[in-house]
Amino acid sequence: MTSAEHWLSIVGIGEDGWDGLNHEARQSVTSAELLYGGARHLGFISASGASATRIPWPSPMAPAVQQILTDHRRQKKVAVLASGDPMLHGVGVTLTRNLIPTEFRVIPQVSAFSLACARLGWPIAETVLITLVNRPIEQLLRHLYPGQRLVIFSEDGSTPASVARFLTQSGYGASKLDVFENLGGSSERNTSDLAASWADKQCGKLNLVAVLCAPDSSLKPLSLAPGLPDDAFDTDGQLTKREVRAVTLARLAPLPNQTLWDVGAGAGSIGIEWMRLHPSCSCIAFEAREDRAARILQNAAQLGVPTLKVILGIAPATFANLGSPDTIFIGGGVSNDNLFDACWAKLSPGGRLVANAVTLQSEASLVARHTIYGGDLMRMLVSRANPIGGSYGWRPMMPVTQWTVTKP
Ligand SMILES: C[S@@+](CC[C@H](N)C(=O)[O-])C[C@H]1O[C@@H](n2cnc3c(N)ncnc32)[C@H](O)[C@@H]1O
Repeated sequence: MTSAEHWLSIVGIGEDGWDGLNHEARQSVTSAELLYGGARHLGFISASGASATRIPWPSPMAPAVQQILTDHRRQKKVAVLASGDPMLHGVGVTLTRNLIPTEFRVIPQVSAFSLACARLGWPIAETVLITLVNRPIEQLLRHLYPGQRLVIFSEDGSTPASVARFLTQSGYGASKLDVFENLGGSSERNTSDLAASWADKQCGKLNLVAVLCAPDSSLKPLSLAPGLPDDAFDTDGQLTKREVRAVTLARLAPLPNQTLWDVGAGAGSIGIEWMRLHPSCSCIAFEAREDRAARILQNAAQLGVPTLKVILGIAPATFANLGSPDTIFIGGGVSNDNLFDACWAKLSPGGRLVANAVTLQSEASLVARHTIYGGDLMRMLVSRANPIGGSYGWRPMMPVTQWTVTKP
């Protein structure tokens, strides 16, 4: 089937406008009855190029997206213009989410990401793409490593200066920034500088930022492997220590696209390390105390996972109206049977539950549940070498009993 036979065509368009469209894209636009797009993109299509009714994106876009799907169901021939590759952080993602592939045709144009890599001679497969369009800047922290190449989609003309300031504050002021404005168009422009020297330079609205990450010599980059140093987290003492944390994460066994509930989250370290493992891993932290809930959010932002969600209140009452997680960690309230029953009921079939106990009472609860539900019990006895006089001696930490169980 060609694009002209589809009721919904999603056409990528670059800054070279109509000239850059291939035959299939042009045919979709000329045969459309309704043509949706941003004012700039619609301006690229001459009156002779399309007889369709033109509908500029409203702000916010959501009602128009619904309207497109309605038009499509009424078998109106709809073409939607989107910048670059519509499936790369573009409207194509939203429009196709609930359709089957035979219902639409996406015609990609070269993305701004590809153009930036082409200009710099960067291998695309070794370059990380991040979007700051409607997303918090703290997510950059998870991607800052010596020599890492980043391409960052900008929210607006002030984004390059915000990125430069953020990198400098995060110990990456020595990174080289290349800002590209209007890539692929006649007004394309490239400005380069070190992050620390960028100051407040403003750019055109359509821009992206390419970063070659270089840390200050004093900075110790944090690994993505679980078991970050304890002092990477702000804490009031309620912290799963790094050795136990690393083993706990291994037992939680995160996979991309999975959700963790971190119940009794304390400083949030388990959920934060879960989310650092893969950008598609998500976490809801449940915490009863307001000061701790605030600290979890602060730790999450500082460790590059600002989208970690915190629910304040007494679990399990706070579980109402939430979907089922793939994995649950119980770090607080382990001896509370009511809490465990609610966790078990909410956990997805085939999901894992891991619980850590330090007190005899909570350990007794885990032993009792192990008898009923099976799973693995183990105990960790960790000692750290500490200075004693001029020598070192072992300082044992409190033993931690860990129960891991999979829901049938
Ligand atoms: C929602 S994303 C869409 C990206 C698009 N799907 C693509 O493949 O290029 C929008 C962001 O992409 C970047 N961008 C898109 N076209 C660009 C261009 N021609 N020049 C510079 N940046 C561009 C800007 O950072 C802009 O904020």
